[in-house]
Parts: sequence; structure tokens; C-alpha cells
Amino acid sequence: MRPSVPSAIRVRRLAPSLLSADFAALGDSVRTAEAGGADAFHLDVMDGHFVPNISFGPALVAAVRARTRLPLDIHLMIENPLQYVEAFHAAGGDTLVFHLEARDDPAEVVRTVHRLGGRVGAALRPETPLSAVESLADRVDQVLVMSVHPGFSGQSFLPEVLPKVHAARALVDRLGTGADISIDGGIGPETAREAARAGATFFVCGSSVFGGGEVGANLRRIRASVEEGAGGAVR
Ligand code: DX5
Ligand code: ZN
Repeated sequence: MRPSVPSAIRVRRLAPSLLSADFAALGDSVRTAEAGGADAFHLDVMDGHFVPNISFGPALVAAVRARTRLPLDIHLMIENPLQYVEAFHAAGGDTLVFHLEARDDPAEVVRTVHRLGGRVGAALRPETPLSAVESLADRVDQVLVMSVHPGFSGQSFLPEVLPKVHAARALVDRLGTGADISIDGGIGPETAREAARAGATFFVCGSSVFGGGEVGANLRRIRASVEEGAGGAVR
């Protein structure tokens, strides 16, 4: 077993979600967020089946890829991830995050993404217990804990998922894989602190970055909150 990374030196990253950006000016949003301190971008793919909303596909990911060298985190809110992981990897997605509640066999999705040379994340809806990822936890690069019901940006953070974040952190630390614990939904200057305290390392933020105010200032506020929460993390 590898020794786990001490909390104080663990890297914590902010990933603005482009779902909240102006789709007609996406290049500008990417540039502004990158200049403002984003560490990665989160792109929400929705198929109208797994979630009621429809967003975008690989062509948009490729367009974003052409505008930034930051890692692209592709959140696949789709019923059949196996059918699409190759296209999203080819489009420039670095981490392909699929839902454990989707139709395909999770172990096969993990194998397929790794065979392609990508990083893989496993996502859990708010009501899905951590046990759903346990059998795969030694093989994933990210565990994404949803803190809203998937489908839309701008919803309120569900604090009841915090114990799951804490348990996911403990599981990943026990395995020593160094996987990220990602938190997605309603993350802003207040909630980021709580998520960091519970052990999250990857913070997806949509409306708190692009929903008003200056993007760089918004990112700075969220980062300060993350570092404050991480400072108080108890493990
Ligand atoms: C929701 C998406 C989120 C969303 C986050 O289904 O997975 O990534 O864009 O947006 P905010 O931060 O506004 O909740
Ligand atoms: Zn997302």
C-alpha cells in the first residue's frame, strides 16, 4: 500500500463548469477563467435520458480543447458511456467521468477508458451510497460526489453528501491511489470550505464562477474558502 499524501501538501484544484458560461462566447469564458486561475475545466455532457436536460457533445469538447491546455474533465451524464468514451477521449477529454448508475458495466467503462490512455472518474448521484464504487475504487483516478441532483447548474448544495465525501476520502487514502475526490453542484465561497474540510480535492463550480461578478475574483474567493477548509480538515 502506498502512503497517503498528507492533507497539507495535497493539491486542490478548481474546475469551472462551462455549463454556466455563455455558450455563444465560450472561447472568451475559457480564456478569462484560465487567466483568472482555473486549474481545469469541467464539461457537462447530458443526453436527455440519464438526465432530463441536453447539453453538448464531442464537437464542443474539441472546440474547447483548441482554446486551452488545461485538463478537461468530461462529466458524462449519459445512459451509455461505453458508446461514447472513445469520441470524448479523441476530442481531447483528459478525464472521463461516468455515472455508476448508468446502464453500462462500470468495470468495463474503467477498462475501456484506461485502454484508451485516459483518466477515469466514477460519479455518484446524491442518493447513491459510496458502496457503489468500492469494488472499483482501486482503479479509478477520481471519485465524483454530486452535491446536487444532476441535470442543471445553479442548484443549492446538498450538505447531506458531506459524510460521503469524508468516507470517499478515507477510502482513497486507505488504498493509497491518490485519486481525486471531486465535488460537483452548488459549490461557491461558502460550500467549498465544507467540502474541502470533508476531504474534497477537486472543486467543480459553475454559477459561482460564471453567474455574475468578475470571474477571477470569484475564483479567488472560492480558492480562499477551499484553503481555509483544508486547513481545518481533520483526519
Ligand atoms: C450539474 C452539473 C454541474 C453543474 C454545476 O448536473 O454536473 O457540473 O454545472 O453548476 P453549479 O456549480 O452552478 O451547481
Ligand atoms: Zn458536472
